[in-house]
Amino acid sequence: MRTGSLAICFFILIANHLLFLANAELPDGTAIAALKKEFQVVQWPVHEPNYCLWLGVTCSSVDKSVEALELPHLNLRGNISLISQLKSIKKLDLSGNLFHGSISSSLGDLALLEFLDLSSNRLGGLIPPSFGSLLNLKSLNLSNNLLLGGIPDELRNLKSLQEFQISGNNLNGTIPWWIGGLSSLRLFSAYENNLFGKIPESLGLLSQLELLNLHSNMLDGVIPESLFFSGKLEVLVLTQNKLTGSIPVSVGLCKNLSSLRIGNNKLTGSVPASIGNISSLTYFEANDNLLSGELPREFAQCPNLTLLNLASNGLEGFVPVELGDLKNLQEFIVSGNSLTGEVPRSLLKGKNLNKLDLSNNRFNGSLPENICGTSRLQFLLVSQNSISGEIPPLIGQCVRLLELQLGSNYLTGGIPSEIGRIKNLQIALNLSFNHLHGPLPREMGKLDKLVSLDVSHNQLSGTIPTEFKGMLSLIDVNFSDNQLNGPVPMFAPFQKSPPWCFWGNKGLCGDPLSASCTSYYDAESDGSHRKASYKMVLAVIGSGLAIFFTVSVVVVLFTIRERQEMKSKKVNEVGVGGELPVAPVAIIAGNVFVDSLKQAVDFDSAIKATMNDANKLSSSTFSTAYKAVMPSGLVLSVKKLKSVDRTILNHQNKMIRELERLGNLTHPNLVRPIGYVIYEDVAVLLHHYLVNGTLARLVHEAPEDLFERDWSRRLLIAIGIAEGLAFLHNVAIIHLDVSSGNIFLDANYNALLGEIEISRLLDPSKGTASISAVAGSFGYIPPEYAYTMQVTAPGNVYSFGVVLLEILTSRLPIDEVFGEGIDLVKWVHGASGRGENPEQILDAKLSTISFAWRRQMLAVLKIAMLCTDTTPGKRPKMKKVVEMLLEVKQT
Ligand SMILES: *[C@@H]1O[C@H](CO)[C@@H](O)[C@H](O)[C@H]1NC(C)=O
Ligand SMILES: *[C@@H]1O[C@H](CO)[C@@H](O)[C@H](O)[C@H]1NC(C)=O
Ligand SMILES: *[C@@H]1O[C@H](CO)[C@@H](O)[C@H](O)[C@H]1NC(C)=O
Ligand SMILES: *[C@@H]1O[C@H](CO)[C@@H](O)[C@H](O)[C@H]1NC(C)=O
Ligand SMILES: *[C@@H]1O[C@H](CO)[C@@H](O)[C@H](O)[C@H]1NC(C)=O
Ligand SMILES: *[C@@H]1O[C@H](CO)[C@@H](O)[C@H](O)[C@H]1NC(C)=O
Ligand SMILES: *[C@@H]1O[C@H](CO)[C@@H](O)[C@H](O)[C@H]1NC(C)=O
Ligand SMILES: *[C@@H]1O[C@H](CO)[C@@H](O)[C@H](O)[C@H]1NC(C)=O
Ligand SMILES: *[C@@H]1O[C@H](CO)[C@@H](O)[C@H](O)[C@H]1NC(C)=O
Repeated sequence: MRTGSLAICFFILIANHLLFLANAELPDGTAIAALKKEFQVVQWPVHEPNYCLWLGVTCSSVDKSVEALELPHLNLRGNISLISQLKSIKKLDLSGNLFHGSISSSLGDLALLEFLDLSSNRLGGLIPPSFGSLLNLKSLNLSNNLLLGGIPDELRNLKSLQEFQISGNNLNGTIPWWIGGLSSLRLFSAYENNLFGKIPESLGLLSQLELLNLHSNMLDGVIPESLFFSGKLEVLVLTQNKLTGSIPVSVGLCKNLSSLRIGNNKLTGSVPASIGNISSLTYFEANDNLLSGELPREFAQCPNLTLLNLASNGLEGFVPVELGDLKNLQEFIVSGNSLTGEVPRSLLKGKNLNKLDLSNNRFNGSLPENICGTSRLQFLLVSQNSISGEIPPLIGQCVRLLELQLGSNYLTGGIPSEIGRIKNLQIALNLSFNHLHGPLPREMGKLDKLVSLDVSHNQLSGTIPTEFKGMLSLIDVNFSDNQLNGPVPMFAPFQKSPPWCFWGNKGLCGDPLSASCTSYYDAESDGSHRKASYKMVLAVIGSGLAIFFTVSVVVVLFTIRERQEMKSKKVNEVGVGGELPVAPVAIIAGNVFVDSLKQAVDFDSAIKATMNDANKLSSSTFSTAYKAVMPSGLVLSVKKLKSVDRTILNHQNKMIRELERLGNLTHPNLVRPIGYVIYEDVAVLLHHYLVNGTLARLVHEAPEDLFERDWSRRLLIAIGIAEGLAFLHNVAIIHLDVSSGNIFLDANYNALLGEIEISRLLDPSKGTASISAVAGSFGYIPPEYAYTMQVTAPGNVYSFGVVLLEILTSRLPIDEVFGEGIDLVKWVHGASGRGENPEQILDAKLSTISFAWRRQMLAVLKIAMLCTDTTPGKRPKMKKVVEMLLEVKQT
């Protein structure tokens, strides 16, 4: 072995020498050799002397000088100024690396540069004024850094600039007037900075401008009329500034404007009628301004309008009947205005309408008889208006409704028993603060998904029907201020509620009220009888679960592949060419936890994405993930849970609570859910889209180029995941499916462990969900699970050990090449028995690159062996694993 190492060492020395000699003869040889040393580009091979063949290097065909250097996302750091020696360079892409410090002004010497992307690094300081010399520059991207100061005036010389992106920095100062002179500009994006002052009118001179995004700055003044003169603008985002004045009439000149987002400003005046001339308008968002006047009927001339949000303004008058012509309208949100007239019947006819939010206005008249005739309505929010008359019995046809808010109106009559037919009602049923009387219909007990029920402050009489115990998902109830009497049914959600939720009634008694029910029943015997039967029911459910448990382990283990295949076949039949499925799906429930993303997420688009296999990103034991582009431009990863386990759906509310809790769990190495949708019998979770896919893809599917073969990156990924898992264990969460298919990589190759929500959802120790969860993925399941049927922290350590082995060997956890009944773990553990040394296990493409790498890999191999010990008790704790891995990194 020693002679072998010596030989390799010698070879490297020679190779380095050769490289130096050979490259020195090429025009940029010295510069590139210096760069290789400075940036430590490990992907650049030692044995290939011609740098023109190296990753990311493109040479001129004439003299072999470097014309392009593209090294994005390689964890590079070092001093960028050396690049200024590459005098012929036209394209430089160093995005998504770890460069820090200030940007070297010597880059301004690269007179031929056309494309410069330094985005997503940690560059600070000022934008170098010397960039003003880059007269050929077409694209400049400095976004997502830590840049300070203003936009230097020297950049006024960049007359060729087409794309200018400086968003996501700490830039201050104003947007210079001269930007209007960069006559080729198509895209200007400077959002999320501290820019102040006015939007210069000169931007109107940019006859090619298609996208202008300045959201989240401190801009004031008006939206210049001139912005729309060229008619080229397609996307305008000015949300979250301090803009005043009115929406310019000239907006109507922009026929191609599809997205207009100007919410959260101080805009006044009315929405101009010229809005109807924007035939492409899809997304109009102007909520939280001071707009007044009427809602223009001209919106009806925008056939593609999907979202109209004018919430929290000062609009008056009626909702124009013509808006019913908007066949694509999905969300109509005008809450918090002073609109009046009847609930717009024409809108309710829209086949695609799923959210109608009229709350907090002055709508009057009665509710339409046929309130959900044809629509796909999920959110009907009409609280705080002046609506009178009765609740129409046909409300029972609103089968897709998730939330019904009718509180604080003047509704009279009884609660129609048909309300019990809205089986999907889930988020809330709020009838409070009306004038409803008569009994509570027992049919409401069928609303078994409902979480929040508020009937307070009416004149309801009679008893609370015992059938209400069918509302299995209830968490919040409020029966206060009515005329109800009799005992509060023995039902956990009632007894757990604070007593004031039952106060102000005529004669309610029993828990949680202090009034005993002796005048009605012999409370004592009734109560204990009920308690006994409650326990019996639980016992029955319990034994059912136990059987289900065994069955589903088998099912999960052996039929997942089959199901996957069947499903993808089905999808292919339905979604030919990525078109909409023939029948629209019925959304049962959905929510977005992150307020700032609420408007940007469109549930239908999310679901649609899961119907097209072309969008498929990854697949794991419990779910398949798809990429989904929202109409707002936001890109999500949409994860469809496999319907193997129907308990997920039966525990929706637990799921929602768990998801919301997980949404608050912050660790940089855990994927956090941002929302969910449930349709038919499918549950879909929403996450941010992580551009670099899964670790499984990186290790097993990436093309055979050197690019993906980077041990340092793999080690960082291992450390990240170990940290995420240690964090989970620390808060007593056991992961159910640690596998490389569940490890996601963001733009900077930070690793994030996914599917933590599944762990919560199906946490067997909580006893609420199916234990089918113990399965995990093939090849990662610790041997003891076969007999203990219990997920444990040491079990997670084992699975993590398998991930380490994958990283080290670039082999799959299960592969026929290992031989009959042998998986990766057995294969590695059996190596010494077979007389093989560690080098025969490790991925030679990594371990032979450098001695340092090889040494680290051997050390990590030791850790992996410990983690995959057959005896659970001998495996280290995750915390210890993190320490050991960090130690390896130090060496
Ligand atoms: C980078 O190198 C140049 C020239 O050698 C030097 O002037 C500059 O200070 C260095 N910058 C940093 C951030 O180290
Ligand atoms: C600029 O960089 C950001 C972040 O890396 C990226 O999202 C964006 O697409 C880039 N813009 C252009 C015009 O290349
Ligand atoms: C802009 O930021 C720089 C650096 O943080 C600071 O020195 C300067 O005073 C700021 N300028 C203004 C006008 O706020
Ligand atoms: C609008 O878009 C269409 C299609 O992309 C294009 O042909 C047309 O020139 C654009 N109109 C303007 C005014 O830019
Ligand atoms: C819409 O455009 C037409 C011409 O295309 C014009 O005559 C009309 O005045 C415009 N309407 C508004 C309200 O701007
Ligand atoms: C509406 O959207 C469709 C599909 O994106 C597009 O083909 C059509 O041109 C749009 N209509 C208008 C008037 O922009
Ligand atoms: C609703 O309000 C409008 C405007 O205030 C009024 O003209 C109309 O008579 C009202 N309708 C009902 C049924 O009260
Ligand atoms: C029900 O609606 C009323 C009136 O809009 C509101 O005050 C109350 O908070 C709502 N109840 C619940 C439980 O959200
Ligand atoms: C229940 O409704 C009453 C109004 O009747 C309200 O005062 C009270 O705050 C509500 N309680 C809860 C817990 O929502």
